[in-house]
This record gives sequence, structure tokens and C-alpha cells, in this order.
Amino acid sequence: MSANAEKPAIGVVGVGWVGLVTAACFAGLDHRVVAMDVDEGKVETLRSGGALPMHEPGLPEVVERNRERLRFTTEIAELLDGCRLLFCCVDTPPTYSGDADLSRVAAVVSQIPKGGWHALVMKSTVPAGTGAAILRQRPDLAYVSCPEFLKEGSAVHDFLEPDRVVIGAGPGAEWAADAVAEVYAPLDRELVRSDVASAEMIKLASNAFLATKISFINEIANVCEGVGADVTEVARGMGLDERIGPKFLHAGIGYGGSCFPKDVSALKMLAGNTGYHFQLLNSVIEVNELQKRRVISKLTKHLGSLVGKRIALLGLAFKPNTDDMREASSLVLSARLQGEGARVVAYDPVADSHAGDLLPSVDFALSAAAALEGADAVILVTEWPEFAELDWEEMAQRMANPLLVDGRNFLDPARLRRAGFSYEGIGRPSNGGPPQSDA
Ligand code: UGA
Repeated sequence: MSANAEKPAIGVVGVGWVGLVTAACFAGLDHRVVAMDVDEGKVETLRSGGALPMHEPGLPEVVERNRERLRFTTEIAELLDGCRLLFCCVDTPPTYSGDADLSRVAAVVSQIPKGGWHALVMKSTVPAGTGAAILRQRPDLAYVSCPEFLKEGSAVHDFLEPDRVVIGAGPGAEWAADAVAEVYAPLDRELVRSDVASAEMIKLASNAFLATKISFINEIANVCEGVGADVTEVARGMGLDERIGPKFLHAGIGYGGSCFPKDVSALKMLAGNTGYHFQLLNSVIEVNELQKRRVISKLTKHLGSLVGKRIALLGLAFKPNTDDMREASSLVLSARLQGEGARVVAYDPVADSHAGDLLPSVDFALSAAAALEGADAVILVTEWPEFAELDWEEMAQRMANPLLVDGRNFLDPARLRRAGFSYEGIGRPSNGGPPQSDA
């Protein structure tokens, strides 16, 4: 610590997922960090060393390891006094119109004193043009856009080993952009220096492109079902083309989370607000919505009517290694199943506590085995590693009817069939039955 004791202190506003990872990792890079949040309960928990408000592998350890350099507060004054760089990590949830709600960002801006000593470094995902709008109101502000690309579930790794660090400097803010570059220098990664609007667009365009890749492979999967091809083989063959690459080509029951649905919608709205109709993104969104529902027809193909049928969901979170339920496919799926008259029982290793309020009429089981007891079908919704380790022969015995819909193409179909299951994947040859149609 002593060699780096002179590193400047950093302020972080908002200790949600991005803010807490940012604060803890900057502390790990030997900065003193003052992290502020308006949520008193959250701040108190973080101060007292209680359980973190989110499930994120490795994060509790980073927080503990760097606790002596981390201070949590509800008072922005504690940041303003001593921290020149203020990283804005507040959330920007979608409004009813699909635009991003920037009220929390505005609240942060309004609290930064005039005079130009501080710099606002925007990590929150905001529509392109937000920096310019802020600077129109606060031309004195040193403004830097530094979007975050971390993924929930691997956030600490992504923060410390980013593919690139994007730094967009506002007018007169080159000193602040240089200071941000200095903070990231120990990571030794590719820097992209740009203007603010371009940095903002890099973030939105990256998320929209990844979502497009997922909707594309999901549509390919749907075609594969019609022609008897296996999308996992198709994706492997496609991904070996370096121009395409293997990542984000996993077909499934749709993307969820706090980012893709929000950012794709925000980019679509942003384009619309400038008079441009972003046709492709409309399709990306629609394909994703339909994809969550296609599972129903896979069930009815085997079971006929779902009225009174007991359907087990394995996994609820929008992806593994997180307890985040935002925009999770399980929400739409369970509502559709109940709409068809089914009884839904669910198990998730960590998301149950968050899911209870969102899924009031779903029964929660304490284990995968308990969820499958007497079930007419099981749907693998989230690819938690522990589901691969289940004794599937035993699971088949527990069920009233051993039918499995693998919503993430996570399990080995041959193994499941040997265990006695009728196996339905997404875009993979099925056990037969009449052709599938949309639910
Ligand atoms: C995403 C981006 O990947 C991050 O780079 C970005 O920083 C973040 O949004 C954000 O804007 O804050 P995240 O939402 O945490 O990260 O999760 P991803 O791992 O990207 O997965 C998103 C969804 O896509 C999940 O529901 C996942 O199951 C689904 N997915 C992902 C697929 O269906 N197929 C794939 O091939 C990949």
C-alpha cells in the first residue's frame, strides 16, 4: 500500500452492481474510495460488513480485502471533499415509454459544485446525447463518459480484465480523461479515447449488437427445428469463422437482465427520437419476446392441455451466478404456464428470495429434487452448474412424467434420454411428436 499511498481518492455515486464492483476494484488498485448511496440500509450493511445486497462471485472477497480503503456513506459531501473524479454509477431504469429514466443522474449532477474542480465520470448507461444535454446545462462541468461492460456473474473478472476501456472526454475535460486513463493504467488494457457521444454510442451499440446476435441464433434455432438440424452444431460451425466468433451464439429461451432489454429499447427510442426508425431492433425485441413463449408448444406437443399439470422450473434468475430476476425469462414463462392452467413449482439456488414477490402464485421448492417430485414436465430455465450434476435417473423416477425442456441447451440429450427422459432442447432434434408451432 505504501508505494501507492499517494494515488488520488475516488468518489463513486451509487453502490448497485456496477458501483460496488467499481468501488471495490478501484480500492483494490490502491485508491482510497468513498462510495455513496441514498439507500441508508444498504450503506449501513456495507459499513458493518454484512452480506452484500447482491450475489456476485468474488465480490465479497474483494470488498473485504480492500475494506481499509473503502468508505461507505449517504452524504455526497464526503465525496466532494477530497475526490476530484466522481464516478456516476446510479441506475437508469426504463420508463413506460422505453426511454431511460435519468432522474438519478440529474440528482447527482445537481449536487456537484460549480467551479470545475470535480469531474463527473459517467459509468451509468445513458442514451447517446446525455453528456451533451448535461453540458448544455452545466458548461462548467468536466464530463467524461466511461461506460461499463461488465457482466453480472463475472463482474469482478470483467472489471479487472476488460476487452477495452472507453474514455470519452467532454470539452475542456482532457485533464479528467487523462486522470481516468491513469486509474485504469495498472490493468494494461486497450484504451479507446473518443468524444462523449461516441463513447455513449459504443456502449449502447455493443449491447444492442450482442442482443441481436442472440435473437439471430434463436431464430436460426427455430428454423433448425423445422429442418431437423441441431443449432448447437450450427453455432459451432458458424463461430469458427473468425469474423463471426463463437460467443453469444447460444440459443435459448431469450435474453433477460437489467441491461439488454433496457438498452436495446433505449437505443430504439433514441433513434426514433432523432427521426430514425431502427427496424432491426424492433425484430430483435420481438424475437426475444416470442422466444420466451415457445416452450409452451414444446410441452403441449407431449402433454396436450396443461390444465392441472404440475410443471417444474429449474432456475429463475436471468442467468447463472446471479440472483438478479430483472426481465428474467422465467417471469414470462411462469405467467404463460399459469395462463394455460398449469401449476408451477420452482427451484433456484440463490434467486428464490428475490423471486417470491415477483412470482406470488408459484410454489418454491427447497431443492431441484423436491421441485421435480410428481411433476409432469421440467423446464431448465437457468443453466446453474449444479443442474448438470443431478442424478437424472433418479430425477426421472421422481416425476409423474419424465419430460424435460432444456431452455438453455445445457444438458446432454443422449444422457437424458438414457435416463428415461423425453428431451426437448431449443433448435435440437426432439423426441418426435407433431411439428412445433408458436404458442
Ligand atoms: C450485459 C453485457 O454482456 C455486458 O457487457 C454489459 O456491461 C452489461 O450487459 C450491462 O450493460 O451492464 P449481463 O446483462 O450481465 O451483461 O449478462 P450477459 O452475460 O450479457 O447475458 C444477458 C442475457 O443474454 C442472459 O439472459 C443470457 O442468458 C442471455 N444470453 C447470453 C443468451 O441467451 N445467449 C447467449 O449466447 C449469451
